[in-house]
Amino acid sequence: MTRKFDFLVIGSGIAGISFALKAAQHGKVALLCKTTLNESNTSYAQGGIASVMYEPDSFEKHIEDTVIAGDGHCNLEVVEKVIKEAPSQIEELLRWGIDFDKNEQGLFDLHREGGHSEHRILHHKDNTGYEIQQSLIHQVKAHPEIEVFEHHFAIEILTQHHLGEWITHHTSGIECYGAYVLNQRTNNIHTFLSKVTLMATGGIGSVYSTSTNPDIATGDGIAMVHRARGTIKDMEFVQFHPTALYHPGERPTFLITEAIRGYGAVLRTQNGKEFMQKYDERASLAPRDIVARAIDNEMKTRGHDFVYLDVTKKDAEETKIHFPNIYKKCLEYGIDITKDYIPVSPTQHYLCGGILVDTNARSSINRLYAAGECSCSGLHGANRLASNSLIEGIVYADAAVKDAIKHIAKISINESIPDWNDEGTSLPEEMVLITQSFREVEQIMSTYVGIVRSNLRLKRAINRLEILYRETEHLFEKSVVSREICELRNVISIAYLIIKQALARKESRGLHYTVDYPERMKNEI
Ligand code: FAD
Ligand code: SIN
Repeated sequence: MTRKFDFLVIGSGIAGISFALKAAQHGKVALLCKTTLNESNTSYAQGGIASVMYEPDSFEKHIEDTVIAGDGHCNLEVVEKVIKEAPSQIEELLRWGIDFDKNEQGLFDLHREGGHSEHRILHHKDNTGYEIQQSLIHQVKAHPEIEVFEHHFAIEILTQHHLGEWITHHTSGIECYGAYVLNQRTNNIHTFLSKVTLMATGGIGSVYSTSTNPDIATGDGIAMVHRARGTIKDMEFVQFHPTALYHPGERPTFLITEAIRGYGAVLRTQNGKEFMQKYDERASLAPRDIVARAIDNEMKTRGHDFVYLDVTKKDAEETKIHFPNIYKKCLEYGIDITKDYIPVSPTQHYLCGGILVDTNARSSINRLYAAGECSCSGLHGANRLASNSLIEGIVYADAAVKDAIKHIAKISINESIPDWNDEGTSLPEEMVLITQSFREVEQIMSTYVGIVRSNLRLKRAINRLEILYRETEHLFEKSVVSREICELRNVISIAYLIIKQALARKESRGLHYTVDYPERMKNEI
């Protein structure tokens, strides 16, 4: 079946939904998500959303903090754009009903996180993402111009390649006409045709054995765009959150928000000693890359699996009011955070790189925009400043709508795309082949492509991955399409891009640290 829309939105986190709500004022929108509207990285966000609100904070300070965290790799024009547009996008969120906490004076209660020189994180208790996601879902469901497709998995974006035209690696002028989409309830593959498509598929956490991201984070959008010959950048900058709750086997790993360190919690070794001062004068509030590497080093040199986060010195009642979900979750595991230290370790959390976009959110493929975690705007550089991603998602979704509506009247739907061809395929005989290969990718990435890297480890990783790639492509060619086989292909592509781009960077910068090139090269901005 073929469906036609003005706007096709792949992904329903903050980037996809905020785009859909604005685009729907200009045409019909299809909003896809591969499970339900509730499940996205956005829903899991804890700390909050960064925006300059009151003096003594200023745009200049937020810009400086972002650039320092980004370790000389940020695009300054982009940093200025996002930070200066943040307050008006916060207004938009408030209009959509999002309830950020306020203090007794009626002002927003702003948190502070690592790398921030001021309190500027708007939040809803310690589950800001859930509050944002639920409010956005409420708006979407009420909108007559938005058709929501839950359990619809985008397999490939449609380009000239599907019209039989051969696209070489260097071809410019690639166009996106929509996507092939698997309805997971009927197992039918539909052709979604659109004038404009937004990729907003979120993160890549499932490429690693442990991650704060939900399972759906398999980097599908980046992999699809890579296969369509779009430009993918900065994949080596994978962010590990320093303080995920240490509870082996739990997936996703439960996050202990950085805001708790902004509130006064400190990191300690298992012997109870503070250690962050040894690594950085900002101690527990240094940017994430520095804190995660310091914890990794303490754990490795001491042979420990975790360090402690100590918030016991703060007022117990206040802690419970500010961090009710963390308090409740830890209590389930027998940890009373007002009395006990919290065992934590670094875990994959975020990807700074992705689909390269310009300041209008345009990708290198015509008619294809990208926003949110799957994109690489240049805001985060080599290391994202905490709570700068929700704001990037909404600012870039806004930029994409503004640009798309300027051009959409001149764009027509391409009706010549053929239906998906599954001739000669059959159900995979052994599902275990797919699940086992998936586990192998996670293991390769966690073992060889973690916080500290080396040429030897990266080369070993790419050699192991090569075998999985060949086996999986062979399986894909002869299998009926399923979400599982597509996700496996996608995580292999993501792992390949991370390793390849990590090997190409002959220095250590931000989140990419390699023992072979421990120094940073000349500053990039
Ligand atoms: P997501 O919210 O991840 O949404 C992705 C969407 O794409 C989903 O709807 C999914 O179903 C859909 N999708 C994916 N693949 C397909 C496919 N093939 N077909 C169809 N649909 C598909 N950032 C902050 O700024 N502040 C914070 O406090 C914060 N805390 C965080 C805490 C946790 C535990 C985590 C995991 C992240 C946190 N982040 C935080 C990061 C931030 O939440 C994410 O970067 C951001 O929400 C990403 O939004 P997004 O719209 O790009 O994607
Ligand atoms: C956190 O609350 O520590 C996560 C914030 C972020 O990832 O931006």
